[in-house]
Amino acid sequence: MPAAQKKLYRFCHFFNQKKALIVYDCMNTVHNTTKEKNYWSSRWEAGNTGWDMGSVSPPLKAYADQLPNKDLRILIPGAGNAHEAEYLHRQGFTQVTVLDIAPEPLAALQQRVPDFPAAHLVNENFFEHAAEYDLVLEQTFFCSFPPTAENRKAYAKKMSELIVPGGKLVGLWFQTPLDPEGSRPFGGSRAEYAGYFAPYFEVLTFAECYNSIKPRAGKELFGVLARR
Ligand SMILES: C[S@@+](CC[C@H](N)C(=O)[O-])C[C@H]1O[C@@H](n2cnc3c(N)ncnc32)[C@H](O)[C@@H]1O
Repeated sequence: MPAAQKKLYRFCHFFNQKKALIVYDCMNTVHNTTKEKNYWSSRWEAGNTGWDMGSVSPPLKAYADQLPNKDLRILIPGAGNAHEAEYLHRQGFTQVTVLDIAPEPLAALQQRVPDFPAAHLVNENFFEHAAEYDLVLEQTFFCSFPPTAENRKAYAKKMSELIVPGGKLVGLWFQTPLDPEGSRPFGGSRAEYAGYFAPYFEVLTFAECYNSIKPRAGKELFGVLARR
């Protein structure tokens, strides 16, 4: 690409990113539970759930398969159809909590897996949740809410409040640029994410995921972060 064209391209990219940030700034914060709940419920009701892999996520399965303690207190926030929770439950994990702001996927899980403890299904805004966990599993939750720095800092802080010292946050985060048109999944970079986690977590692993599903290959980071 000629230098002048490169320069113009960079300018347009920068401008689009700025435009996107303005769009995001006008969106609600994650603390507006009613608005977020209505948005997600309407997607569930319409069956607009293109993110759903239909079975347990291979990287999270591989991580779970090497855990010796089946009594770990595990939270899966923004769990959706919660295939990971179903898998963990069937493997004998006893303390798996599934949390979602929309009631629809929780009801579906209860129907699909009738012996999953009803008390472990929580219909709440993650950002209002209060409890203690040894392990939180992340998958396509972080990328689902408006990607302002304020929201992302609130996510890291809330994770630090929910996870006990020595506990872990493990999961997948997209390493893709933000879509200038403002559509999901909302990505970012390792450097950006590491900045949010730095005050609370020690990074044990945070690298490109080697066992992503095919459509996400090269697009996601696998992280294991230990609560200080
Ligand atoms: C993109 S979907 C991912 C679902 C699931 N993790 C998966 O990988 O299939 C995001 C999920 O997060 C839920 N969600 C969005 N914002 C939330 C919030 N603030 N608190 C709890 N759940 C939320 C939505 O209802 C939806 O089920």
